[in-house]
Amino acid sequence: MEMFVVKGGRRLSGRATVGGSKNAALPIMAAAIVAEGPTLLENVPDLVDVATLASLLRDLGLQVERRGTAAKIEVRDSGAAVADYDLVRQMRASVCVLGPLLARRGYACVSLPGGCNIGDRPIDLHLKGLRALGAEIQVRRGYVIASAERLRGADVFLGGPFGSTVTGTCNVMVAASLAQGRTTIEAAACEPEVVDLGNFLKAMGAHIQGLGTPLVTVDGVERLQGTRYSIIPDRIEAATLMIAAAITGGDIELAGVRLDHLTAVVEKLRELGVVIEQRSELLRVCRSGELGSVDCTALPYPGLPTDVQAQFMALLASSGRLSVVTDKVFPDRFMHVAELVRMGACIRREGGTAIIHGAGSLSGACVMASDLRASAALVLAALAAEGDSVIRRIYHLDRGYHDLDRKLNSLGADIRRLVDDASNMPLSLSLSDDRDAHPVVRRPKWLARRGASKPVSSDPDE
Ligand code: UD1
Repeated sequence: MEMFVVKGGRRLSGRATVGGSKNAALPIMAAAIVAEGPTLLENVPDLVDVATLASLLRDLGLQVERRGTAAKIEVRDSGAAVADYDLVRQMRASVCVLGPLLARRGYACVSLPGGCNIGDRPIDLHLKGLRALGAEIQVRRGYVIASAERLRGADVFLGGPFGSTVTGTCNVMVAASLAQGRTTIEAAACEPEVVDLGNFLKAMGAHIQGLGTPLVTVDGVERLQGTRYSIIPDRIEAATLMIAAAITGGDIELAGVRLDHLTAVVEKLRELGVVIEQRSELLRVCRSGELGSVDCTALPYPGLPTDVQAQFMALLASSGRLSVVTDKVFPDRFMHVAELVRMGACIRREGGTAIIHGAGSLSGACVMASDLRASAALVLAALAAEGDSVIRRIYHLDRGYHDLDRKLNSLGADIRRLVDDASNMPLSLSLSDDRDAHPVVRRPKWLARRGASKPVSSDPDE
């Protein structure tokens, strides 16, 4: 396993380029299952999740060739229809093959993903949508087994207790594209990644209207033809880099950003005092004054994305003000709170809300990444913290960010990727017996006078 050792306190400056969107690339690659002829994709990010999906697609009889950010995908054998637990448990977005398999092969056996660190994550809305289109669906031994001779258009409502479903909308939209007749999807997810999938399907010959609105209409067609398509930039990576500039009081330029996908993020950063300016192809993000305070609520698009909730919390924890963060999409997505507290943040959680009494400054610590975006939040906090930080389990980060460490280093950060081994721990974070020598944990003066040399108990009565 690898870890990051981050030296905090460096102000970021310079230029970086945002890569292709992970959450658009995954359903689009999965939708290549329904294409006749080759699909040629551009701006595909080089991520562990993308490699995982490529392995799953190969298991399902597709040839996937990747060169840099290009990918060529083509169906070679349409006999297989099983997405095994071993792959699905590594990446929940594997469920995106369900709709395409059902639509094109008439049968799908896809492992149920199970819960994860950000919440329960059921797929009942996916199944409800596909059942409405006429699929027979059973859940047996941890697998969803779905079949349909030919799907039929229907009226589908995809609203759930936490809003719509992003990958559920993707599954139903792909399936409806090859169904007989018209499907209307009400309470469809409006996320740019869903729109990107819809545009890809349209480029293949699908008839879809209303993309980006809660009412999407799909008129089924007989076949979809492989096409060439370029994936949108990753708005979550862009937001993460913008927050990196804000948290370090930096001044950076980002290339490859779709500002129209980041309205809520830009709004909140501006409220905090961050300057954001579009300069032709580049986005300038800088902060020179103190950070303000904001109340943020993560909501379905066009609201603030839940995928930047943790990064915002790191930013707010580093300010000296009181802020409130609520997550209405994944109300349990707060694993990062305890780790930020280890870095000196003052955060109190109440259900799906966290109250942040800005500490004014953070201090380096050894922390553990629990999920993809929580890892990004810890990296951001470490950039702003005083001293060294160690972030362990960064494999979570590599699932969704391509070379984030390299990108941040090119902007002036000091992040080293090392093997997670005691010998690589910075001395400043190791608690030696000689506590007088330790820069953080010093013996109280009265104890030093008595000459005690052993570590002391924290019990004040002793
Ligand atoms: C996608 C994104 C993920 C993002 C999330 C919310 C991909 C690959 N992943 O995940 O990064 O955090 O959208 O923007 O695109 N729900 C149900 N029943 C369902 C499906 C979902 O109740 O059948 C609930 C979920 O538990 C959650 C909310 O609806 O509370 C949104 O989930 P959903 O949009 O489905 O998330 P994903 O598509 O899995």
